[in-house]
Amino acid sequence: MKSNQAPFLFSFPKIDFSGLKFSFFNSTDIRFPTLKIGRSESRIPIIQGGMGVGISLSGLASAVAEEGGIGVIAANAIGMIDPNYYQDGKEANIRTLRQEIRKAREKGTGVLGVNIMVALNDFYDLLQVSIEEKVDIIFLGAGLPLKNIPLDSIRKQKIGIVPIVSSARAANLIFSYWKKNYNDIPDAVVVEGPKAGGHLGFSREEIDNPDFALEKIIPKVIEAVLPFEKESGKSIPVIAAGGIFTGEDIFKFLEMGASGVQMASRFVATHECDADQRFKEVYVNSNPEDVVIISSPVGLPGRAIRNNFIEEMKSDTPRKVRCAWRCLSHCKARDARYCISEALNNARQGKLDDGYAFAGANVARIDKIVHVKELFSELRQEYVTVVENSTINLRNEFEKGINKLSNLVEEYKKEMDYRIKSLRMEFETMIEKGAAALKEEYRVATSKIERIREEYSSHIERIDEIKNQLSRFFDTSDIVLPKVLA
Ligand SMILES: Cc1cc2nc3c(=O)[nH]c(=O)nc-3n(C[C@H](O)[C@H](O)[C@H](O)COP(=O)(O)O)c2cc1C
Repeated sequence: MKSNQAPFLFSFPKIDFSGLKFSFFNSTDIRFPTLKIGRSESRIPIIQGGMGVGISLSGLASAVAEEGGIGVIAANAIGMIDPNYYQDGKEANIRTLRQEIRKAREKGTGVLGVNIMVALNDFYDLLQVSIEEKVDIIFLGAGLPLKNIPLDSIRKQKIGIVPIVSSARAANLIFSYWKKNYNDIPDAVVVEGPKAGGHLGFSREEIDNPDFALEKIIPKVIEAVLPFEKESGKSIPVIAAGGIFTGEDIFKFLEMGASGVQMASRFVATHECDADQRFKEVYVNSNPEDVVIISSPVGLPGRAIRNNFIEEMKSDTPRKVRCAWRCLSHCKARDARYCISEALNNARQGKLDDGYAFAGANVARIDKIVHVKELFSELRQEYVTVVENSTINLRNEFEKGINKLSNLVEEYKKEMDYRIKSLRMEFETMIEKGAAALKEEYRVATSKIERIREEYSSHIERIDEIKNQLSRFFDTSDIVLPKVLA
């Protein structure tokens, strides 16, 4: 009998080791996930929340965008930074918004957004400027953006559009309305919880009610947008906002299913923030008991840092209300005895006797003014630490699995190279003599290989599973696991 006709009873299991690359997960590789909204993608999933009046302009927005976050210019009453505002308020807003967008673009690259309050009387004008100037993303806050949203022109300019909501109900209402009336849906949704700064979409009672905590609302909004995601086939990032302070907070909301966070107060205490130094110092010097809820002339509660102006507005002493033009559709300035835009604009300029600073619930934790770059690196470091700690068991298991795999590879190769090959040769030469014993030995050897192969496959499966879990935090694209062929 010729050797190539040997009556082998067992086929050789084969594993393809080609291209095999093992690698371990190092802390230095931990990265933030990117945030994709429409056609824009930021390296870091942090949106700098729009802050009016004049707190986030081109200076802050461009610095944030340059560092890989999403920088946002607040459009409401932006014309107040122009000395001619009281002559032509509406025109000043249009002119100044255009200038600020252009300035931000000139200063650098990155993702740039504009925040426009739906409650503004010049909402559509400011929307039009943002469209003409082709900002990357438009955020629509303080109200429900339902009627007359010019989605055709927004889409034509490839602009992302993102409403800001405070409940799953509002998200559902906007998405359903847009789907029905525009056959389109928003590209993402920002969920602003009760710890945010500025105007809040909650009643005073809801603000401290744990049922309305951001942690409770986020899962509900994710659930509400899910059917729209499924139907459209596009992913709709849900972004958490309000009281987010550390990299650990960011991690917590990402783990909960959010795709990013919006932070505002922390960006006030940066050198790049467009407000006066005195405004920033109010933040640094604030104590927890200074953070109060005010009734804004807009008709909503708002969170601010208490000062004499706020106390004075509670008294009956009349103040002259100066109204440039009716900038807010539901303005209750006469009842409140002051103009909110003017008060905020005074605060922006450091005139805190004639205004006050809006701020988030955690403002008192801010203790210094830093550069945007430093803030990002602090947040990244905190995020890295929490990812390191929370993935330590998975990484250990992965490393042990990889070591075991390497040993199995060696064992497998040895069996294949030495035992099977030599047995096969021996078997072939002695086959005609009816080497039953050798045959048995051969069977034992191949079944051992089979056992290694099975063990190997189950390891590969587990390692692949761990790799997938870790891929949320690490770049796993260059890790190639071997294929089991047969
Ligand atoms: C000073 C200040 C001004 C704000 N102005 C606006 C605004 O004009 N439009 C808006 O939608 N949100 C505004 N906000 C809310 C922020 O964009 C953001 O969502 C919120 O403050 C996030 O909470 P945090 O400050 O605790 O990070 C403002 C917040 C602050 C602190």
